[in-house]
Amino acid sequence: DGLMQQLKQLETVHPELVTPESPTQRVGAEPLPAFSIVRHPLPMLSLANAFNPGDINDWYNRVLKLAGSTDFDFVCELKMDGVAIALTYENSVLVTGATRGDGIQGENITHNLRTIRSIPLVLNHMIPGRFEVRGEVFMTKAGFEKLNDSRAREGLPLFANPRNAAAGSVRQLDPRLTAGRPLEACIYMLAYTRETRMPRTHWSRLEYLKQLGFKVNPNNRRAANIDEIQNVYHHWAGERHKLPYEVDGLVIKINQISLQQSLGDVGREPRWAIAYKFPAVQANTVLKEIKISVGRTGTLNPYAVLEPVPIAGVTVRQATLHNEEDIIRKDIREGDTVIVQRAGDVIPQVVGPVLSRRPPGSQPFSIEMKLFDKAKNAPVCPECGSVIFRPEGEVMYYCPDAACPAQAQQRIEHFASKNAMDIQGIGDKLSAALLRHQLVSDFADLYFLTQQALLTLENTKGKKAAGILAAVEASKQQPLQRLIFALGIKHVGAETASLLASKFKSLDRLMSASREQLVAIDEIGPKTADSIAAFFSNSANRQIIEKLGSAGVVPPEITGEDNLNKPLSGLEFVLTGKLEHFTREQAEQRIKQLGGTAKSDVTRQTSYLITGAEPGSKVDRARKLGIHIIGENEFLAMSDNQ
Ligand code: IVH
Repeated sequence: DGLMQQLKQLETVHPELVTPESPTQRVGAEPLPAFSIVRHPLPMLSLANAFNPGDINDWYNRVLKLAGSTDFDFVCELKMDGVAIALTYENSVLVTGATRGDGIQGENITHNLRTIRSIPLVLNHMIPGRFEVRGEVFMTKAGFEKLNDSRAREGLPLFANPRNAAAGSVRQLDPRLTAGRPLEACIYMLAYTRETRMPRTHWSRLEYLKQLGFKVNPNNRRAANIDEIQNVYHHWAGERHKLPYEVDGLVIKINQISLQQSLGDVGREPRWAIAYKFPAVQANTVLKEIKISVGRTGTLNPYAVLEPVPIAGVTVRQATLHNEEDIIRKDIREGDTVIVQRAGDVIPQVVGPVLSRRPPGSQPFSIEMKLFDKAKNAPVCPECGSVIFRPEGEVMYYCPDAACPAQAQQRIEHFASKNAMDIQGIGDKLSAALLRHQLVSDFADLYFLTQQALLTLENTKGKKAAGILAAVEASKQQPLQRLIFALGIKHVGAETASLLASKFKSLDRLMSASREQLVAIDEIGPKTADSIAAFFSNSANRQIIEKLGSAGVVPPEITGEDNLNKPLSGLEFVLTGKLEHFTREQAEQRIKQLGGTAKSDVTRQTSYLITGAEPGSKVDRARKLGIHIIGENEFLAMSDNQ
């Protein structure tokens, strides 16, 4: 950015030095009346698809037969889900950028492509004559979300997915609009040059393209045989959701250019490459109804009841819809055919409606209308019938009744969960059963359960009942911060709970803390302070806490050092190398916050050495002393899980 600014200043002083290739010229050209047509000197082919190992074997065997030897290997590339482009350079200067079109002729979108920073306007080396590469323009998932958010704010129609957004963006008539879109470009092949001294494998050509200044996907891998191709495929089929952009498969290419050439094409597809598709993660289905569930803190969570649809090996029947604002923004209506997406183990989501299939007479969705109760003349909680409300400035509606059975169940589950009181055996089924049989009405009642009572339930016969009672009893020993977290106060996660425990040292003192005392703590904002104060001033909540006390759930007061009982207390950390998510200071601060100590040298006392990129000699010393060496992610997991 600094260099860009400097260049702009220089160009204002010396306008005669501004060239069409200058990076400043990426933005600001006048709108084009329409796209002109570019005839591709070499057709832009498409790819045959493979969907399973059998398809890949068949392809390999066909190649083998034509090649007459096994003397070749493969390059596995991610198949970027964007728009194909062809870039032509003359004497190393970008002259034409085109879409694929029908493969024979495409649209001239040079002005738009010039605005994409990962497309070099001039190559790093001089290549005489015409030089043509092919690649993909795409939008990152984050860029796409941001773009849609701002379009929603301006009341503009939303893009269905990053690919559509990328396609729409490169086909703007006004390049200034394209320039404002978060686009990137990756180049995946050299298509034409008259130079004969080019590298003879695809892999080394990609290296060469990188040297010329193109962005080449760093996740490309070589594979020596089919097994290695399968390994790469399985790796990315599982990990693709973690990529910042969307991919729909791998492209497997023969590495040897001479073999590529002798294999040639069949119809519009080359024989030397194949798309190895990942299982689809999206499908269309009918949204039968939008239902509302009640969360632990009383949030009313809309979810979609779907016509069951298989996606990537799982039958999806329900999907989340986040909140009303999101539903309205995407204009999702009951009865719509919708696009449903299931990414990894993430809960399935409704991406948006298929407008062309919207049934006549459908109504925009509204929680207030959905939950409207005539008798009360107001929208009510679907579980307990209390009139619902939406706090100002929030997107969620709430059920105000702490005794609402749906809330009670979620609260019990949370109270017993691993990071809270860790009472094994009390999950969703048992908490629902306990409530249904009126053996408990809140989590404090767990401490008054008896063997006889548990034995009346289906799934807690015999030894199980005793195990649950023992786990309940053991949980009385949990330290203060866990109990605070277990109470399920809105906005109070495990970390805030630790902080509150170390500041107030007993539940009594925390309960009588004023809002002012709470906001005076650095890490606690007004929203959290309000929520804590509101929680403890509610009489139902106070009763539950009293009940806990009478059952003997009274964590000992924290004495002396603030750091006792914190997740990392007693642990000593040393850092080396460059971290990705923190500066050195931030990492040290986090260690301290969580009760650990940060030291600069590795000694026998060191508990963990955290290593970032390019670690120093501390690693050797830690190895010698047998100190645990962990990466940044392990550290994150260690501090997040607490
Ligand atoms: S190679 C002749 N490599 O997939 C071979 N294509 O039909 C041409 N794509 O829209 C394609 N990533 O733009 C190749 N690493 C990659 C790719 C890739 C995405 C797109 C391509 C075209 C479609 C192939």
